[in-house]
Amino acid sequence: MRAYVLKSQTGIEALERVEMAAPVPARGQVAVRVVACSLNYRDLAIATGQYRQPTKPSVIPLSDGAGEIIAIGPDVTRFKIGDRVAGCFFQNWSAGEPGSDVQNSALGGGRDGMLAEVVVLEEGGVLAMPAHMSFEEGATLPCAALTAWHALVEHGHLMPGQTILVQGTGGVSMFALQIARMAGAEVIATSSSDEKLARAKALGAHHLINYKTRPDWEKAAMEITGGRGVDQVVEVGGPGTFGKSLAAIRVGGRVSQIGVLAGMAEVNPAVILAKRANVQGISVGSTRMFEAMARAFSLNGLKPVVDRVFAFDAAPDAYRHLRAGAHFGKVVINI
Ligand SMILES: NC(=O)c1ccc[n+]([C@@H]2O[C@H](COP(=O)([O-])OP(=O)(O)OC[C@H]3O[C@@H](n4cnc5c(N)ncnc54)[C@H](OP(=O)(O)O)[C@@H]3O)[C@@H](O)[C@H]2O)c1
Repeated sequence: MRAYVLKSQTGIEALERVEMAAPVPARGQVAVRVVACSLNYRDLAIATGQYRQPTKPSVIPLSDGAGEIIAIGPDVTRFKIGDRVAGCFFQNWSAGEPGSDVQNSALGGGRDGMLAEVVVLEEGGVLAMPAHMSFEEGATLPCAALTAWHALVEHGHLMPGQTILVQGTGGVSMFALQIARMAGAEVIATSSSDEKLARAKALGAHHLINYKTRPDWEKAAMEITGGRGVDQVVEVGGPGTFGKSLAAIRVGGRVSQIGVLAGMAEVNPAVILAKRANVQGISVGSTRMFEAMARAFSLNGLKPVVDRVFAFDAAPDAYRHLRAGAHFGKVVINI
């Protein structure tokens, strides 16, 4: 079968196309013919050696993919050949609190990922794709969508009428926008680009802030909410935006700490105290959360935002497209 491996963590050029034997499912595993994969910022960080978790040498990259089951190992009961499925980011986090071995089960990191024609996954690490989605759409769900869902719904107990602030227009943030709208919440979207803000508006954002022309976007959020502050921030900037997110929330509001896209800065713990802020670190999510999210997306007909689809041969170009930051939503590779 065709696959890519990451020969070293020295950059996108270390991605190498290889031929290898297709893996065979063992007890409790399924083999999936991958139809589409999607990229996350993490995949860039892994390729450039900037990811904080250990990575398997010569790993097959990418956590996210969807396809069709072509073989099942002994004792598999939940799936059959022909089922349309998506893989779970963590192969070993079915429900509850994550155990210490969960991180090593992350696809495209601790364990081989989805950028291959055939992959073997744990039965508990796959789930049926929402029927209304194409494989390209289903492939966008495992990391970005579930992270946004985990932040807003599982921890944030998202309610109709809440005000949610999403940062930028990348994968996590556009799912957060859609999930918030699905739940009847008000959305403030920020971006470095007015053109992208117009697209966020078309997707349902109520209020738009360009964080380049309005670097004090936390004050803009306060103005929009009449001085109250927002209920939740989906924080993807990290140290460079965290302080502003704390300033943007209402008293007792929530900052879900997800990403670290913007540079370093110091955090003043007194602000957390003064705001009685809830700060929650988020790490993608479990299979049970993924199932709940897939049900909600199916019921509401939610369609992921696919920015662009690249061919298998052009996988390195897909990485470069993500690195350029010109995308809106998700970047997909068709296998
Ligand atoms: N903890 C977890 O489980 C988890 C899961 C998924 C992702 N993440 C992290 O979350 C972050 C986003 O991931 P992603 O895959 O959604 O990335 P992505 O699709 O590459 O999104 C990047 C976008 O973020 C926006 N951005 C960049 N710097 C910003 C800043 N200073 N302020 C506001 N927005 C900024 C830009 O949007 P505009 O072009 O519109 O300005 C950029 O296009 C990454 O750090 C990633 O590692 C963490």
